[in-house]
Formats: sequence, C-alpha cells, structure tokens
Amino acid sequence: MPCPYNDPYTINPGLRVANQFDVIILGGGPAGYVAAIRAAQLGLTVAVVERDKLGGVCVNIGCIPTKALLHSAYIARLLGESKEFGVEVTNIKTDYGVAMKRSRRVSDQNSKGVEFLMKKHKVTVVKGGGVLQPGNKVKVGGDVYEAKKAVVIATGSRVKGIPQIGLDINKTTVISSDEALLMEKVPASLAIVGAGAVGMEFADIFNAFGVKITLIEALPRILPLEDAEASDALAKSYRKRGIEVIAGAKVTKATVAKDKVTLDVEAGGEKKSVAVEAVLMAAGRAVNTENIGLAECGIQVTDRGFIKVDKNLQTTTPGYYAIGDVAGPPMLAHKGQREGVFVAELLAGQKPHAIKYDNVPSVTYCHPEIASIGLSEDQCKERKLDYVAGRFPFSANGRARGTGETEGFVKILRDKKYGEILGAHIVGGHASEIIHELAVARENEYTVEEVELAIHAHPTMSEAVAEAALDSLGRVIHI
Ligand code: NAI
Repeated sequence: MPCPYNDPYTINPGLRVANQFDVIILGGGPAGYVAAIRAAQLGLTVAVVERDKLGGVCVNIGCIPTKALLHSAYIARLLGESKEFGVEVTNIKTDYGVAMKRSRRVSDQNSKGVEFLMKKHKVTVVKGGGVLQPGNKVKVGGDVYEAKKAVVIATGSRVKGIPQIGLDINKTTVISSDEALLMEKVPASLAIVGAGAVGMEFADIFNAFGVKITLIEALPRILPLEDAEASDALAKSYRKRGIEVIAGAKVTKATVAKDKVTLDVEAGGEKKSVAVEAVLMAAGRAVNTENIGLAECGIQVTDRGFIKVDKNLQTTTPGYYAIGDVAGPPMLAHKGQREGVFVAELLAGQKPHAIKYDNVPSVTYCHPEIASIGLSEDQCKERKLDYVAGRFPFSANGRARGTGETEGFVKILRDKKYGEILGAHIVGGHASEIIHELAVARENEYTVEEVELAIHAHPTMSEAVAEAALDSLGRVIHI
C-alpha cells in the first residue's frame, strides 16, 4: 500500500495511471512542502516522498525547536535581570529537560501543521526513502511513481563531523545539533566547534542553562559571513556573559574518552588544551545527495557537492529540478521555500519572478539577535564601491531603553550616488523582525531616502532603521 496518507485514486478521480502525478517531490522539508502546496494551488497533481516526519530538519530538528529553546534561554536570562525592572524572583532554577520537551511539542505541532496542509491541498504523501530513476520516475520500496512534468529534488542536508581530527559524531561526547535538541540534561561544560548560526545559537541556549561554554571558530572572527562590526559586537556580548570565544583557532587533535573530550587548539600562535564533558559539532552541514539515484539519472553535482542547477533550478537532466539546501548555498529554509514556489510556478506554466539571491536575509537568533541583507562593509570595500555607512545604536532608542535591550545597532550601507541600500546589518533585540523593512526596500529597489520617508511609529525599535538611514544622509536626529 504505497500511500498511507491519501489514496491517489480518490483524491484525483481523473487519474488513470496508478502512481502517476504531474510533479513528484523528493523530500518534505521547507523547500519540498512549499513547492508541493504552490504546485497544488496551481492545479497540478502532486506527491511528496518523505522518509521521516514532514517539515524536514527545519521543523523537526532545526529552526523551529531551536527557536523554542532560545526563548527558554531568553526567559532564564530575563528573570536573572528582573530585579532591576521591579520584579524580584528568587530561586531561579533552569531545567533543560522541561525546555526540551516543550520544544518537541512545538516541533510536533508544526509537523502536524504541514501534514494538515498536505491534506488541505490534496497532496499525496508517500512515506519512505525515494530513489530517482530515469524517465522522471521515483522508486519508493517496491513501488515506482511517475511524474508527467517533473521530479523535484529537495532532500536537504545533515550535520557533519570532522573525523579527520578525531571529531566524529558519536552522539554522547561528540554530538551534533540533533542530539543537543533531544538532551534531557545539560553537560557541565561544552566546547562548540564552529561559530556559524548553529554554534552561536547553541552557545546562547546552553550558556543560559548554566553550561560552561568554549566557542571555537576557525576563521578570524565568529559569524564570519556577517559584517565585521556586527560579529565583533556579538563576540563582546558573549564574552561579557562568560562564554569563552576563541577565534582564528584550529583544533589539531581531539582525544575522546568515555565522559570527557580534550581538544588541542592552536590560536594566535599559542597552543591550548580545552577539556570538556562534550563537544558540539557546528562546523557546517553536508547535503543529502548519496543513494538517491543522481548518477543513474545523469544528474551532475558541483565540486562542492551541491546539485548543479541552471537559472530555472533545472538539473543537468531535463525534467529533474533541485531546490533548497541540495541546490546550493545559502542553506536557509526561507531560500528553499522561495525556490519551491519558483519551481512550482515554472512547472505550472507561469513566469515566476527571478530569485534575487542577494536579497536573501540572514538571521541568527541568538541574543542579541543578528540579521543582515546585502553586502557587508568589507565587501563594499573589496568591490571599491563608493558608499556611506549610516549607524544608529539602540542605546539611543527610547523603546530599547524601556525594555533594556540597548545592546547593538542598525547599520545601513548607502550607495553615495544613487542612494541604493547596498547592505544592512542589525544587532539587537528583534533584529530578526526589523530586517524585513530592509528586505522589502531592497527587493523593490527603494533608496535610503525612501526608507526614511516612511513614517516610523514612535517609540519603536524600527525607528533605528530610519535613523541609520538618516545618518547615512548626514541628518540623523536622535544622536
Ligand atoms: P556554517 O557554515 O554557518 O558555520 C560553520 C562555522 O564553522 C563556520 O564559521 C566555519 O568557519 C566554522 N568551522 C568549520 N570548520 C571548523 C573547524 N575545524 N574548527 C572550527 N571552526 C570551524 O554552518 P552551521 O552553523 O553548522 O549551519 C549550517 C547551515 O544551517 C548554514 O547554512 C546555516 O546558515 C544554516 N542554519 C541557519 C540558521 C539560521 O538561519 N538562524 C540556524 C542554523 C543553521
């Protein structure tokens, strides 16, 4: 019985051939399930093949549960500071197991939500691991499904270890985010290898739950893809709350014992030994492209292992498309979702708007949050662009003072001649929300003047955007 969720005959009464759909999507994560919904909205018959829970890494073991845990961390930290706000709380006790269980409930709700959406849009969900076959086919167990229009590959990515230096994930002392999200109890000490989004978010969470954190980053600064000023602000904030940040560091050797790991670390010409109860690997992800029949279908991959796609996200074999993490960076849920919509519209015969990859916002939801879009200041310099940086610190923003969220700033990089927003960088409370004002502005090619002209409600954190815009024009008001 191939379709445990929906029967293709009853949901598609006109269907003559068993297991035939207009579009078959391999993978039910954010890219795949959004593609399915959009294709169904446009009248196509769709099947999603998923071996695990719907929603993929994002919903089940990534974006969503981490946001729940980060909120627990935020509450713990807030309670620690609440006396200053006239609310005294004694005996604050944190319990990671309770926070973790809550985060699981949040994930499950979201995954069930995706199941509901599949039913609502009459998308057939086939449970199992799918393998591509030539002729627009997908094999799941003993059944073969055929796509009349296209097969869309959306198999996502997974955590990777660094076995070369002895840091192979063993799920007890060397863990990945997968295990960190399911732990009942926190270790006393934790080294986190990699200070990208995953490393930063878990450092924030575990620090609030009382874990002694050592954050190790190979590149010269944490969050190396962010603007240098923004990543410096985060490093300062993390150090202030007792997180040891070692950047420009190389782990040369790892000695893994039953209940302890010792890392030999080289940084700034010095050697250091870091002994911890556990190590969390956050040094990037590997794409799920193995054993899904790529080679058999003539689908090529890039030298970095991503599936090669053209501007329409079609692979090197016509009729097979790739979206989301497997189709290349940035490996972000919202980029995958947009690609899902794009491919669905294309397959339905529409002319979708081209995806502007320069306009994909990046957000790390640690505290303070960090969000950005477009170029960093260093990139402006490298490209020899004639730009002005406008800045506004939250310490000068009334709303931020009221809530005590005075850390951070908004920085807007303005093209001197045309007023174009070359890049925008926000560190601070609600950065993840505020960035979208600049996302809308960049997508619509608004100038810095046009952003500032929009009346910003007072008092709001968003006023800092208008003030940074004004600062880039030399007429900031509140500083
Ligand atoms: P990442 O690629 O963003 O960061 C990994 C970091 O590890 C890099 O800064 C890299 O320089 C460093 N690194 C690599 N090898 C190292 C070594 N041997 N020693 C020390 N440092 C080393 O990968 P991450 O954080 O694992 O995230 C994976 C993907 O998931 C990324 O594409 C990320 O954007 C996405 N993600 C996004 C989130 C968000 O949008 N908030 C949250 C979590 C993940």
